[in-house]
Amino acid sequence: MEQKKFYITTPIYYPSDKLHIGHTYCTVATDMMARYKRLTGHEVMFLTGTDEHGQKIENKANEAGVTPQQFVDNIVEGEKGVKDLWKLMNISYDRFIRTTDDYHVAAIQRVFRKMYENGDIYKSTYKGKYCTPCESFWTESQLKDGCCPDCGRPVIDAEEEAYFFRLSKYADRIRDLLENTDFLLPRSRVNEMIHNFIDPGLEDLCVSRTSFKWGVPVDFDEGHVVYVWIDALFNYTTALGFLNDRYDDSDYEKFWPADVHFVGKEIVRFHSIIWPAMLMSMNMPLPKHVFGHGWLLLDGGKMSKSKGNVVDPYLLAERYSADALRYFLLRDFPFGSDGNFSNELLINRINTDLANDIGNLLSRTTAMAEKYFGGKLPAEQAEGPEDAELIAMASALRDKYETQMEKYAFQTALADVFTVIARANKYIDETAPWTLAKSEATYPRLARVLYNLAETIRICSILLSPVMPSTCVKIFDKIGAADEIRTWDSAAVFGALPKEATLVKGENLFPRIDAAKEIAELEAISEAKRAAANPVKEEAKPALPTREITDHEEEITFDDFCKVEMRVAKIVNCESIKESKKLLKITVFDGERERTIMSGIAKWYKPDMLIGKNVGVVMNLAPRAMMGGKYVSEGMIFAADTETGGASIAFFPDDTVGYRIH
Ligand code: ME8
Repeated sequence: MEQKKFYITTPIYYPSDKLHIGHTYCTVATDMMARYKRLTGHEVMFLTGTDEHGQKIENKANEAGVTPQQFVDNIVEGEKGVKDLWKLMNISYDRFIRTTDDYHVAAIQRVFRKMYENGDIYKSTYKGKYCTPCESFWTESQLKDGCCPDCGRPVIDAEEEAYFFRLSKYADRIRDLLENTDFLLPRSRVNEMIHNFIDPGLEDLCVSRTSFKWGVPVDFDEGHVVYVWIDALFNYTTALGFLNDRYDDSDYEKFWPADVHFVGKEIVRFHSIIWPAMLMSMNMPLPKHVFGHGWLLLDGGKMSKSKGNVVDPYLLAERYSADALRYFLLRDFPFGSDGNFSNELLINRINTDLANDIGNLLSRTTAMAEKYFGGKLPAEQAEGPEDAELIAMASALRDKYETQMEKYAFQTALADVFTVIARANKYIDETAPWTLAKSEATYPRLARVLYNLAETIRICSILLSPVMPSTCVKIFDKIGAADEIRTWDSAAVFGALPKEATLVKGENLFPRIDAAKEIAELEAISEAKRAAANPVKEEAKPALPTREITDHEEEITFDDFCKVEMRVAKIVNCESIKESKKLLKITVFDGERERTIMSGIAKWYKPDMLIGKNVGVVMNLAPRAMMGGKYVSEGMIFAADTETGGASIAFFPDDTVGYRIH
């Protein structure tokens, strides 16, 4: 029988900066899926890579004073770069594509030419709005409150001669694909696409640029470069050898169409509308699924390179191990929805599931085997009434897990495994092996209890091996499970481990972490990093200066400006504090949560003048302890200096709470 194939991809990431935990999240999920499919006997192609062209990279390279190629080489191949990160995270990709690879560039030129020749790409003039950070053109009607509908940032007017792709021609077929098939997952993303993009009418898409150079040149019209999203999306096929000879042609025959593209929800539009339309134009089969996963949020906002509020996966993997971090990411956050990242969650998860549940189960089982039987279980074993439930649960686990994995429900699949692990720990308490060890008469029963525990551990470890590959190898070694009983088939068989198994005691795989101490250390590390990134030049002056406009204020880049997150928030409470005549303690609701802001405006405002008012707030200032740590201020309120040295707060209309300010 021909081996089943499985082709899975991550987005190809922009090497505009070091990758963060969000990218790691998607890549780890893809890796778990790829390993699971290999375990179930598939021939897998797992593709990842980097999306290296475009204006943003060109700008970044200019700022850094290097060529764009040098810039991306450093981020992709350099120390602690993208490839190093995937090595550290034990990512088992089969292929890594860089869109600056020659074979890819040549193939993209062929793709562009083909669509031009078949009439789906034509030349015209582009007038519209452009979002530089997203590299996206928008029409007026697509803007949200005058800003980019993807990221909410300001757009600029742009006009240029350009090539267009006849996206409009495919609107009906795309609607049908989205509404009547399970192409786009989870289903909840479908409405969003239909509502926001298909219903308002698909317009033709501008697919070339003349405003910058760093891209794939259109080979029949000098000065034009191919729109970065055509360049990027076709990576999924050029990496298989499509229209190029870098790889064997048969890879394309063998693996295309992809089984699933994992992508973040912000790029679902590109993958579920533009990508299938282009494939239709090229007469190519469509991928079977696109799965739009949720975001990892930090304090309720999206982590992003351009906002600068990122969590470093390197630090966490080096401190706690790649396996612990991988497990946490897939166990704590439901793949299809957003989740709030915190160090506390990470450490709690390590302590409860890994140190306590599986770590203890393994160390108790192996320690008892060594203590009571010198490590080798005797053949004579006796069943008991406590066995049936544990055996039933462990025997049914593989199929349960499979059902969840086939739905990309990593969280539930892992929760199911840990339910069995918890049951095994309870089984130890029920059977009390230390009592059985007191009399030779109960040795056979004791042996059977330890055997059942080892078997449960073996089955669970097979199913955990896609998420914690290194740890599971260690576990198999400790319970004496040979290669042939680390397999998918053997995970459905309770009793595959030889009766006279040899167990080896060892230290706990995941030592317990002192949570409070560790969190404080992590905080101190990120504080130091923040301080190094934004050195404070001078203590802020408490008294407000009079109006003074200087012409020597430091110029900042647009990207710097984008790092400041400003929103409208409602003042829900305000009080004076006895420790200070200047400060008011203000509680605002920012659309997501309440936060406290200590503001030096008590001289000009009484609390009742402010309660219920909407104000502009800088949201992503590092929290600051005040009054010897009694208060923590989490933001600043917009106010203008007045002629008399006072402050005048800007108020916003009623229905704007939670809105971004630009
Ligand atoms: O969009 N939470 O690249 P990119 C979860 N080059 N996932 C996150 C995340 C977060 N906070 N931040 C990023 C691009 N991701 C294009 C893709 S594909 C043909 C071209 C993950 O570097 C998530 O998977 O901005 C998201 O879609 C991807 O990184 C975006 O990476």
